[in-house]
Amino acid sequence: MRITFTPNIYGTNNVRKENFKGLLHIDEQTGSPNDSWFFRDYGTLSDAASDVRENFPKGADIWDYACANGEESISIKGFLPENRYRVKGFDISNDPLKLAKKGIYSLFSFWHDSFLMSGFENTYDKFIKDTGNFAPSIEERRNLRELFMRIMEPAEYKSEYKYINNRYVAMLERRTNPNFREEYYRLKSEFKDSIAIEYGDINHIDKLPKERAVGAIFFRNGIYQLCDNNITEVMSGYGLNNWNVNRGKVCEDLVDKIYRVLDENGIFVIGTHIKEHLFLANKYTPREDRMFLSETPFFNPNNKHHRYCSDLCCEQPLYKALLKEGRFEPVKYSFARIFKGDPFVKVPVIWKKVKI
Ligand SMILES: C[S@@+](CC[C@H](N)C(=O)[O-])C[C@H]1O[C@@H](n2cnc3c(N)ncnc32)[C@H](O)[C@@H]1O
Repeated sequence: MRITFTPNIYGTNNVRKENFKGLLHIDEQTGSPNDSWFFRDYGTLSDAASDVRENFPKGADIWDYACANGEESISIKGFLPENRYRVKGFDISNDPLKLAKKGIYSLFSFWHDSFLMSGFENTYDKFIKDTGNFAPSIEERRNLRELFMRIMEPAEYKSEYKYINNRYVAMLERRTNPNFREEYYRLKSEFKDSIAIEYGDINHIDKLPKERAVGAIFFRNGIYQLCDNNITEVMSGYGLNNWNVNRGKVCEDLVDKIYRVLDENGIFVIGTHIKEHLFLANKYTPREDRMFLSETPFFNPNNKHHRYCSDLCCEQPLYKALLKEGRFEPVKYSFARIFKGDPFVKVPVIWKKVKI
């Protein structure tokens, strides 16, 4: 396997050819990753959209926090194209918000959503399977491309689009990989009124004025940033536990606000990143909530990183907060695992607000 060393905004970074991550954006202030792609965990998006349509037939707002550059909000809209469903995407990171403002989205080879490119439905099978996100079948890929093309249209290339992706990685890829392809798309004008992307911090979600029923709140693959949960870094030996974040309290505050904002029968949707489902315990974790990694369903004794960390102390404060007083119940599941190669574990990703 050829490894290419290329400088990126944070100095030297090794980028494997088949793992080209065009966006590779890291928030300069927080150091948190902003990566996203279209139809990430598409099964969950599809289930969430069906749930909203069934419970809010007259329409609703969908608040998509941690939307990054809006690829997630657009994907949700793809499943709910009717005008009566409005998707409002929010993020706290400037870089992806700037991209969202540009309104130009790039699809490129060797990434999780490459199958959306014209004529790419049947390619990169292996890559998509290796990503750990359940690969859409060829038929599903065709359907997803159809959904995508219903709301997006190709945009002719302009030189200013050159820097949409991480410029060093993209430049190197374009120069050295003859099979590399990139396409540009924009939202069709008829959908512009039903998607808005702006600055918004989920910590202040309860201050946002409600204009209509809020049928769903998404906060996918961002909770670990809120809680500074470094479990995978610690397990692989290049990170430290943050002992000063009370993760139980962060999750409780978050869930309290979400419960207040959501309308009855609304749903809260989380991601499949392992760090939303398994957290490092610290001094704030009540004794009864602590568990060894080896006691969790995510433990894989065949992986040396798991074996070395079998007595790592973990907790699940998000589930605890959601289940508290029966405020939410899990209604749909997806799959998560700690590292590539570990077995997948079923995890709850769509939580329904229960009237108490
Ligand atoms: C890894 S990206 C996930 C993007 C997308 N949800 C997905 O799953 O593909 C995490 C995003 O969460 C955002 N984020 C972190 N804390 C946030 C907060 N308090 N409010 C809103 N967004 C936040 C980050 O800026 C980042 O863009």
